[in-house]
Amino acid sequence: MKKKLVVLTGAGISAESGLKTFRDSDGLWNGYNIEDVATPRAWKKNKQLVLDFYNMRRKDVLNAQPNAAHTGLANLQKDFDVHIITQNIDDLHERAGNKNVLHLHGEIFKMRSELNESFIYEIRKDILLGDVANDGAQLRPHIVWFEEPVPMIEQAAALAEEADIFAVIGTSLVVYPAAGLIHYTKKVIPKFIIDKTIPYSALYNVTAIEKPATQGIAEFIELMQKFIA
Ligand code: APR
Repeated sequence: MKKKLVVLTGAGISAESGLKTFRDSDGLWNGYNIEDVATPRAWKKNKQLVLDFYNMRRKDVLNAQPNAAHTGLANLQKDFDVHIITQNIDDLHERAGNKNVLHLHGEIFKMRSELNESFIYEIRKDILLGDVANDGAQLRPHIVWFEEPVPMIEQAAALAEEADIFAVIGTSLVVYPAAGLIHYTKKVIPKFIIDKTIPYSALYNVTAIEKPATQGIAEFIELMQKFIA
């Protein structure tokens, strides 16, 4: 039986693919106010601004390619039962060949009715004001905004509980409930953190790899060899 490797990823894993993180010095939240583009209030106040912001994000992702960290995790599927819980809205894990990817904060290539969360559609181009769902309501990005519930969190917590090994790659761990997932893991299991800068610690049985994701992944894969069942 392959061991269950559960990996929580954030914007840092896609940084070397050219996608901006949120809180680094050149991050997205340096150029935008969260309240203006990523809250239900923002949507009420200025739909065009919100659509423009996410239409840009969609173009950025279309132009980006998976990097060695995404493909490294995909390669680990040979020897491990890999489950990725990502806060990212990009599809780089999928494009790298990862089979089990749970998107906690939504997906940039999906849109949905602003009134009915179950009316979801694929979108590669821009969402325009006036584009409507089958229920006649304006379409919005299929993104979990601040102040909105995170529907996938229970599934993610269950995965964390079942993990034989848990890794965290490229996230500042400041946004809850995602940041709390590590606390659902069994205390004794090996945990790994890969991040360019690691400000947090104090967890039991953690190996910290303080490197950019594309370099850290090589070290991680090396360390994983001893856990192959
Ligand atoms: N390799 C590894 N880690 C990196 C790299 C890199 N090349 N570049 C940056 N990082 C790290 C940073 O050190 C930081 O810890 O990635 C993390 C990025 O943190 P954030 O910008 O806060 O992104 P994230 O944790 O994914 O944000 C969580 O916040 O705004 C919301 O919904 C948005 O899903 C997002 C959530």
